[in-house]
Amino acid sequence: MIVKKVGEERILLRFWKLSDAKELQKLANDESIAKYTTVPFPYKEKDALEFIGRAESNLKENVEHCFAIVDRKNDAIIGSTSILRIDSRNKKAEIGYWLGKDFRKQGFMQEALQLLLDYGFEKLDLNRIGISCATGNKDSRKVIEKAGGKFEGIERDGNISGLGQAYDLRNYSILKKEFK
Ligand SMILES: CC(C)(COP(=O)(O)OP(=O)(O)OC[C@H]1O[C@@H](n2cnc3c(N)ncnc32)[C@H](O)[C@@H]1OP(=O)(O)O)[C@@H](O)C(=O)NCCC(=O)NCCS
Repeated sequence: MIVKKVGEERILLRFWKLSDAKELQKLANDESIAKYTTVPFPYKEKDALEFIGRAESNLKENVEHCFAIVDRKNDAIIGSTSILRIDSRNKKAEIGYWLGKDFRKQGFMQEALQLLLDYGFEKLDLNRIGISCATGNKDSRKVIEKAGGKFEGIERDGNISGLGQAYDLRNYSILKKEFK
């Protein structure tokens, strides 16, 4: 399954497969990812295998769709993004993401987010998508606000990071009718 919008993107999104485990482990084993996400650090191959196994069962149950973000130029995995906590009754879900450290500040996350929002609103027929970032995560905040996220409030100690620290979240949402 490959998510495609207009075909001009530099990246594509595809479901994770077990053979990605080594590449995922190398990319995700990074304190700068764990600081503002729930991705554990250190990140071992066992973590990667568990993540991909869980991604496959969550997809079958339609509670979470996890994608590898792939650079179309050389087929290398550069990050991960998911639509999670899918609530079909209320047509809502949340989005999470991270990029490997060598792939930031190049606009890749903005492209990935557009693809994922399109997938969520069009393919999954969601009405509302929530996106959050740590209050200190300026880079992620920019990504969300550029994508049109509407700020809803601060959730105190909303997550516990991969480094074991609780942090406050800035919660945003995007509605289908607002997405272009
Ligand atoms: C948060 C994170 C995904 C943001 O990624 P990013 O690469 O900075 O975001 P984008 O892909 O939108 O890139 C935007 C930057 O690329 C620059 N850029 C360079 N080339 C570009 C291009 N062709 N198109 C668009 N932007 C481009 C933009 O100017 C912008 O720079 P700025 O932030 O100084 O304004 C990334 O920092 C990350 O994974 N961090 C660690 C984990 C994490 O925090 N995850 C999010 C948890 S909520």
